[in-house]
Amino acid sequence: MKRIHILSFIAFLTFIIVSFMACKTYPKMEITQREFGSVDGKKVELFTLVNGRGMKATITNYGAIVQSLWMEDKNGNVEDIVLGFDSLKDYLNDSPYFGAIVGRYGNRIGQARFTLDGKEYHVTPNDGPNHLHGGLKGFDKVVWDARAYIDSSGPCLELHYKSSDGEEGYPGNLDVYVTYCLSTDNELRIDYRATTDQPTIINLTHHGYFNLSGNAQRDILDHKLQIMADNYTPVDSLLIPTGDIKPVEGTPFDFRNPKSIGQHIRKVFNKKPGYDNNFVLRTGVDSFRKVAVLSDTVSGRTMEVWTDQPGLQFYSGNFLDGSLKGKYKVVYQQYWGLCLETQHFPDSPNKPWFPSVVLRPGEEYKTRTVYKFFIQ
Ligand code: GLA
Repeated sequence: MKRIHILSFIAFLTFIIVSFMACKTYPKMEITQREFGSVDGKKVELFTLVNGRGMKATITNYGAIVQSLWMEDKNGNVEDIVLGFDSLKDYLNDSPYFGAIVGRYGNRIGQARFTLDGKEYHVTPNDGPNHLHGGLKGFDKVVWDARAYIDSSGPCLELHYKSSDGEEGYPGNLDVYVTYCLSTDNELRIDYRATTDQPTIINLTHHGYFNLSGNAQRDILDHKLQIMADNYTPVDSLLIPTGDIKPVEGTPFDFRNPKSIGQHIRKVFNKKPGYDNNFVLRTGVDSFRKVAVLSDTVSGRTMEVWTDQPGLQFYSGNFLDGSLKGKYKVVYQQYWGLCLETQHFPDSPNKPWFPSVVLRPGEEYKTRTVYKFFIQ
């Protein structure tokens, strides 16, 4: 008899807890905007996207930068999980591409030159002799036109930029659209589209620095990472791929099963100790597939990365050195955030056996990447 009482009490308690959880209310879905400053005589705005399911993102049309991204931890604390700055001034001053869209060619082009249809092009060298992330004034440093709207998936921000022929050395007028949506499924979805009026090359990516601890409390060495890649592209001392495609098996690049980022990090050197390497993603049945999973056991936050792209640059924040103070007055030390940049392989324009990055008039560059968030 007594046992029945205890059991019904437990059932009652469970009912109360479940009902309480089901009733949990989140701030309602909306988009708001405020002035963030101005650049090149153009107004820069900061948009806040709230998805009604507990997530919020602030995005500026300067550099298409995701300035903050908020989600709950396992105890219900809502915290920011990306690195960045409070003010536009700090982004203008010195930012290692925090949260930005990089292009026209994300990652490196060796010797800052390439040949397309028999013609040699020179792009701006801005990383020693090489070209990095679109040059001196890449897409991370321009003001985009913005259009905010809510559709069936949630709040979205469409950003548009016209990159003119010859900008940073690239051929062709390129019309680029990047749309961020913060879906009601707790995804940050990024849709990229572009067209050109002359043959050109393109490789756009998102350069968010994630730190799932919340408000960047700790470094990311204890985060666990899985990358669905059997191979990677080895690089030379300036991080230009040698052209080989090598198996990850038996190397520190083996993330086929989840392992902590810190486990083998000291065995990897890319100008600095740490990961800054392109992984050759396994092809799936569907071209849009899950390619990486990042998790932080302490906060319970987990992020999946989905994309249709062939590569993923895993950069472990090696160049952060304590010289930048970000949001919440946190000093960003080495390994304080990590990037998972979905992309084409670095230096593809000079490696014809890598998947092609050429875009021709009449074609559309169209790709999608999704960062999906859970509590575990
Ligand atoms: C990329 C590069 C790195 C570094 C960072 C920015 O991810 O691969 O080498 O330039 O951007 O600091």
